Amino acid sequence: MSFPYQIKSVDQYKAAYDKSVNDPEGFWGEIASSFYWRKKWDKVLEWDFKKPTIKWFAGGKLNITENCLDRHLNTLGNTPAIIWESNDPEEPNRVLTYRELHAKVVQFANVLKNNGVQKGDRVCIYMGMVPELAIAVLACARIGAIHSVVFGGFSAQSISDRLQDAKAEFVVTCDGGFRGNKEIPLKSVIDDALVQCHFVKRVIVLTRTRTQVSMIEGRDVWWEEEIRKVEAQGNPDCVAEEMDAEDMLFILYTSGSTGKPKGVVHTCGGYMVYTNYSFVNVFQYQPGDVHFCTADIGWITGHSYIVYGPLSAGATSLMFEGIPTWPNAGRFWDIVDKYKVNVLYTAPTAIRSLMGFGLDPVKGHSLDSVKVLGTVGEPINEEAWHWYDEQIGKKKCPIVDTWWQTETGGILISNLAGVTPAKPAHATLPLPGVQPLLVDENGKEVTGNSVSGNLCIKFPWPGMLRTTYGDHERCRVNYFATYENLYFTGDGCLRDENGNYRITGRVDDVLNVSGHRIGTAEVENAINMHAGVVESAVVGYPHDIKGQGIYAFVIYQGTHGDDALARQDITKTVSKIIGAIAKPDKIQFVSGLPKTRSGKIMRRILRKIAEGEIDKLGDTTTLLDPSVVDEIAKGRL
Ligand code: WT7
Repeated sequence: MSFPYQIKSVDQYKAAYDKSVNDPEGFWGEIASSFYWRKKWDKVLEWDFKKPTIKWFAGGKLNITENCLDRHLNTLGNTPAIIWESNDPEEPNRVLTYRELHAKVVQFANVLKNNGVQKGDRVCIYMGMVPELAIAVLACARIGAIHSVVFGGFSAQSISDRLQDAKAEFVVTCDGGFRGNKEIPLKSVIDDALVQCHFVKRVIVLTRTRTQVSMIEGRDVWWEEEIRKVEAQGNPDCVAEEMDAEDMLFILYTSGSTGKPKGVVHTCGGYMVYTNYSFVNVFQYQPGDVHFCTADIGWITGHSYIVYGPLSAGATSLMFEGIPTWPNAGRFWDIVDKYKVNVLYTAPTAIRSLMGFGLDPVKGHSLDSVKVLGTVGEPINEEAWHWYDEQIGKKKCPIVDTWWQTETGGILISNLAGVTPAKPAHATLPLPGVQPLLVDENGKEVTGNSVSGNLCIKFPWPGMLRTTYGDHERCRVNYFATYENLYFTGDGCLRDENGNYRITGRVDDVLNVSGHRIGTAEVENAINMHAGVVESAVVGYPHDIKGQGIYAFVIYQGTHGDDALARQDITKTVSKIIGAIAKPDKIQFVSGLPKTRSGKIMRRILRKIAEGEIDKLGDTTTLLDPSVVDEIAKGRL
């Protein structure tokens, strides 16, 4: 494949950027022409951020899997599409060429059809990081079903909430999953989730761990048996469903500052064009490159930069089932050498945790194949940036610090590897087509350089969310109502003297723990489910490895005389309601919470206490009971 839109110099970047602003339709129309469309679009862009309505390539017809698979068969049929490395370093790896992946996707698409899945149906996918996860995702896309992948670490309650919100009648899962020395009982978690979801008609279960599971007659079927049925039918083809550019491709749930996670909706045409464009440019993809994105497909990073971006470019995408520290902290480096990885894309939290093991696990690895390093998910501190640069990149690999969100579909702000300059801890410049701006609290644009503000985007890009599933108003209120005619990211940001952007973190009540997005309200609701809890307030605090830790202030009237036991119990409740990723790092029992006279919790004060900045609490006189602040500050953990 060739990529006429790949930017190769700073001048080309500037020219592309200018064109994208002056003639966005011409700019994106030209890029989109490189893809395979069953029918060309009528109009490149129609939009109105007030409603919001955003339509890219309206009237265009396509199927994203024809772009990720079929169109590569002639030229790349024998090229590895997916290389899979098991959690267990002793287990043989698996390689699926484009031809093999195509065949498997077609086969599983027929399984879905045989089980009654139709275009527009929602399919929840709850699996570990096995190739069949990517196959299931693509098979949904092939028949026009809307996939909604739920990360394998979420609880039964979280799955059930998502199933109900998406009204998903189909589930694809595994008996269990391997992660480090743990075995995750995926099917049994699904069984618990389905107690509240009788509308689910079919559960397809892949064998992975061979743990005992219960199969409910009439509802649950084995993946392998269903495949055998398709084989017995003579392995028929499955011609890709013709989709409108604006038909839904997937729903992915993510946390906000209030309420339950919302289902971010991405559509077929724009998402395809944007993930491919950003993949090819940010990582400077060259044919033959092995791309190793360490994320889980349960998150947007995996959707865009393990599955759709790399495969639409004909790249070799490496999928890893395990974790960076198992069986030891050299695992990433073993994998890099084993497969001669060219691009390594990971999260600052992983880098910091590996730094903690010192240089021994890195020693003995060549890491020579690496050309580009990437980070994503949270701000990267300078120390981690330099360690990554020196110890892994040997100072010869550009680091791309890629800022984006579930809602943005793909990378919006990043340097382009080796093309535009990097600056430690800075995402640097917007991609062509992306028009960021900073605003102050009143929504007034902050112009010039060496300034800070809230990060907004003023013009649509093809990969942006279209709605939140089943609740368009929530989408409008969340993203488009804070500042008129702007998409609000929820992030605070600095712009340096040269116009480089540095994202400083969320300015709303959303935490970023190890690169995972968690709403404080969600954690509070989970804590409050514990019978002994009267009320709670949750804030983030700086954490050396996780970036942010979770600090919970809890009014507790339970029967445990023992604080440690009570803490354990509350932690268990949170795991059960949300999942282990949301467990509080610190739980402080308090007798009251700082509230305004109107009853609103003053999180600002709790945040300062959690951060240890007790001398900077600011004005507390407007509180209902200022004395509670002293008590909380004294009891700080
Ligand atoms: C939030 C989005 C996008 C994939 C992973 C996370 C933070 C993301 C960076 C970065 C500083 C970053 C932001 C953003 N974030 N990348 N390079 N530098 N912060 O997706 O779960 O939707 O979270 O992650 O705060 O709003 P997500």
